[in-house]
Amino acid sequence: MTSALSGVHLTGWGAYAPSYVLTNADLERMVDTNDEWIVSRTGIRERRIAGPGESTASMAAVAGLRAIATAGLQPDDIDLIIVGTLTPDYPMPSTAALVKDAIGNKRAAAMDVAAACSGFVYGYATAQAYIVSGMARHVLVIGAETLSRCTDFTDRSTCILFGDGAGAVVLSASDEPGGTLGIEMTTEPSGAYLIWLPAGGASRPTSERTIAEHEHFMKMKGTETFKMAVRTLGSTSLAALNKAGLGLADVDLVVPHQANIRIIEALAKSLAFPMERVFVNVSSYGNTSAASVPLALSEAVAAGRVKKGDRLLLVAFGSGLTSGAIALEWTADPAAAARAANIGPERVSVTPGYLNPVNPFPPALKWMLDDITPGDGRNAAARTSDTEAVAEARNTATRVE
Ligand code: ACO
Repeated sequence: MTSALSGVHLTGWGAYAPSYVLTNADLERMVDTNDEWIVSRTGIRERRIAGPGESTASMAAVAGLRAIATAGLQPDDIDLIIVGTLTPDYPMPSTAALVKDAIGNKRAAAMDVAAACSGFVYGYATAQAYIVSGMARHVLVIGAETLSRCTDFTDRSTCILFGDGAGAVVLSASDEPGGTLGIEMTTEPSGAYLIWLPAGGASRPTSERTIAEHEHFMKMKGTETFKMAVRTLGSTSLAALNKAGLGLADVDLVVPHQANIRIIEALAKSLAFPMERVFVNVSSYGNTSAASVPLALSEAVAAGRVKKGDRLLLVAFGSGLTSGAIALEWTADPAAAARAANIGPERVSVTPGYLNPVNPFPPALKWMLDDITPGDGRNAAARTSDTEAVAEARNTATRVE
């Protein structure tokens, strides 16, 4: 099928999830909640937590290197690096700039995109425009988040929802048929304050008061967000398909933002689309915001749910209230992911800032770093597989505390 958007293909993909695991049973010990409530209301069973030596940039770099390898490219083949995130390492420089250094790219322009959970989809759309205009040939688009560092672990209405991780794709110019077919992006400012992180910006700079009042954590009106999410996910999906000249019956797999299984099921119901053709991994990661769609996409490919010629619909919503959807025809060989098999966190190093080091790990989860909670051994495994950077960060933590 020809389209005004043709000529841009998804050639590489990859993801990274940190090793620390926070289960519903763990949360039961921290706030007044229970596994049954969390699973029935959200579908989430556990989420991943970035270790003390990890950050949005470091996780993004691992996912990015995996996507570049899968595409059969070298880091220097990338012309532009885009990171969608609401948890950048710093307000400036951009996380994308840190990723560029960490992956050893010497050529690319690098920038962040701020569209919360829609950040990856917005980043994809931006990359698409750069490639279609001829300004770039290969673009690395990453969604990465360290939400554990802006989650209030005393607030049961939000702390059960969020997790950390990263996912990435490479988009490349190509004259082959297929690739991106339709994109829709929307922003509804009437929902701007449904999900927000009030302090730390120009409007409410950091002060003793903002810290005391927990304003550096995400706040959310859950029920209102839920309703608006279902509506905008549906309308954005249909608009992207319409632009692609496709109908829902043409879609082989929907990869939605993994915020809540009930939102995903409500979306499928509102579109009369079968859940069997919707990819869901929210139970293992919770809501990882901008990382959610590319992380789910990588898992869907690894699970054999995507094959050449399939029509995919990627769709997300997030704070803003932003929403975006991408219809594409998959043209890559799913087996190419094997090229990234040997790429792990030890391959990247994000140069730390030059101020006094701090331990960024959430104090409320400090028990994960100690040997006080036996759990099922997975966090012990995370501890023993920590990189030297993690060990160094832990030493630093000992020094600063
Ligand atoms: N454990 C037990 N009970 C809880 C919990 C909890 N963790 N959290 C809330 N409750 C209680 C509430 O206090 C309330 O009790 P009450 O009836 O006595 O007042 C009851 O459970 C029901 O609360 P609701 O908020 O009405 O529950 P709801 O069914 O709406 O589910 C949820 C809440 C899961 C947050 C849901 O609204 C949701 O998923 N909303 C969308 C969230 C979302 O997708 N956010 C996207 C963020 S995107 C981004 O940009 C970061």
